[in-house]
Amino acid sequence: MKHFITFEGIDGSGKSTISKLVLEKLKTMGHDVVLTYEPTNSWIGKCVQKCIETNSDPFITAFTFIADRIEHGIQIQKWLDTGKIVLCDRYAESTYAYQGVQLQDKIKNPIKWLKELSKDRIPQPDRTFIFVIDPEKSLSRIQNRDKLIPFERLSFLEKVHSNYLKLASGKQFLKVDALKEKEHLTNICVSDIIK
Ligand code: TMP
Repeated sequence: MKHFITFEGIDGSGKSTISKLVLEKLKTMGHDVVLTYEPTNSWIGKCVQKCIETNSDPFITAFTFIADRIEHGIQIQKWLDTGKIVLCDRYAESTYAYQGVQLQDKIKNPIKWLKELSKDRIPQPDRTFIFVIDPEKSLSRIQNRDKLIPFERLSFLEKVHSNYLKLASGKQFLKVDALKEKEHLTNICVSDIIK
């Protein structure tokens, strides 16, 4: 049984939809489960939204995302301590993948640097599902949204996608084909969580 599970992937990969379906399925099975997300809706999460919308300095953006996560991590740990399964739509790998791209021309090895910043300060997931999808397809899925944020550009998402693939090694990670049917993806996640 896994307790702390994160869902990762580029914008339009479908991870938010599947995390909600996984929540419902686990509840139906009688599990005590909570679904949370990042950026959060706390005051720090609101600063994060501002950073995204105004295309803020990449260092300020990275520090703000990490601050939001450290605060969120305290709540996540409380849920874990009371025996809940915690599902989280986006977590640390989002910062490594997205801010890794934003900082790539600014510092050497940004992903390593970003990992150092939050190391030992946040709970570690037992499983991270990486929703793999071609960036052109993911963008076409979200084209009809009211407003696209600055990150939702093909050239940027291609680099984020490539960071996700680099990050997805090691036993924490399970890559899933985001183009598969929703029901199939939900079953893959649920059976892996309760294994
Ligand atoms: P959302 O669409 O999942 O709400 O996330 C908003 C955007 O923020 C999305 O483009 C991914 C990006 N993001 C980061 O760049 N770094 C992070 O650490 C997180 C959590 C999200």
